[in-house]
Amino acid sequence: MNRKDEHIKYALKYESTGNSFDDMELIQCSIPKYNLEEIDMSVNFAENTFEYPFFINAMTGGSKKGKEINRKLAKVAKECNILFVTGSYSAALKNPDDDSFEVVRKENKGLLLGTNIGADKNYTAGMKAVEDLKPLFLQIHVNLMQELIMPEGSRNFNEWEKNIVDFVKNIKVPLILKEVGFGMSPETVKKGMELGLKTFDISGRGGTSFAYIENMRGENRFSYLNEWGQSTVSCLLGLKDYINKAEIIASGGVRHPLDIIKALVLGAKAVGLSGTMLRLAENNSTEEIIEIVNSWKEECRMIMCALNAKNVKELQNVKYVLYGKTKEFYLK
Ligand code: FNR
Repeated sequence: MNRKDEHIKYALKYESTGNSFDDMELIQCSIPKYNLEEIDMSVNFAENTFEYPFFINAMTGGSKKGKEINRKLAKVAKECNILFVTGSYSAALKNPDDDSFEVVRKENKGLLLGTNIGADKNYTAGMKAVEDLKPLFLQIHVNLMQELIMPEGSRNFNEWEKNIVDFVKNIKVPLILKEVGFGMSPETVKKGMELGLKTFDISGRGGTSFAYIENMRGENRFSYLNEWGQSTVSCLLGLKDYINKAEIIASGGVRHPLDIIKALVLGAKAVGLSGTMLRLAENNSTEEIIEIVNSWKEECRMIMCALNAKNVKELQNVKYVLYGKTKEFYLK
């Protein structure tokens, strides 16, 4: 089976053992200030304004199944006016006949589109991705533990830093440094800023586990690492000092509008969903997903109203309670 199809297969099979969003409770408001229709959900990051605070995050491309999923989810994104990010463009670079990425552009004029490439790649790969897809931004993914577990994964990492610097120097669209579900530490964000980056998708633990996926693709030798990394909420709490210095995007284990709003309360500029969108694509028609996503937009507004937040910035004033493992992490 194609590697990209195996990622999809095992991502669908995995069930996370815990989700840090369940350790967080928002303090609601009883005497509201705003009418529902006054609430503005727009967000700003990577030099763009988006009408809604959540998006479909990087997943696939590079196989027939990947093309079908890209096609379906890009159509949903276009119809709902939300952002869609393709999976790593390296699959298209390996195979010039591959049309599983460009299909999203071709079939959806005006689509809000981002694309993705690995930090192991030379900046010329990023330039080609940008030239071909004309995205609003390029995500550079960092996936160390995935590479280490992956049977055919890279074993050389000391070029990543130089590659990132070259991306910063040469790529003309905004860049986002992105984890893949293991979480990002303040030290990583600090280092990324020193390398010239401004925007970080901390993609934490709680949803898709690439440790599990690669273990299943291989001989499952390292199953004890399936829960590797830091949870999304823990990462956001740890990055409090960076909320106003950098642009922090949240992803990892986001299931529904309440998780989206919790991430925004913790200072995220926007929120990405991968595994949840993959499951929707697998189990529903395009029309059904459009209906669900359109409803999510209204549900986000509803929850913001119940928290007395007129806009996403005001969500940062919302008080919250932490429980369990996440609270313990925060106290240390
Ligand atoms: C991914 N993810 C991913 N990330 C990335 O930067 N480049 C990629 O090509 C892929 N490919 C990919 C394939 C599949 C099938 C899945 C489910 C995910 C990682 C993704 O963007 C995200 O960081 C993690 O999945 C965590 O978010 P969720 O899935 O818990 O919402």
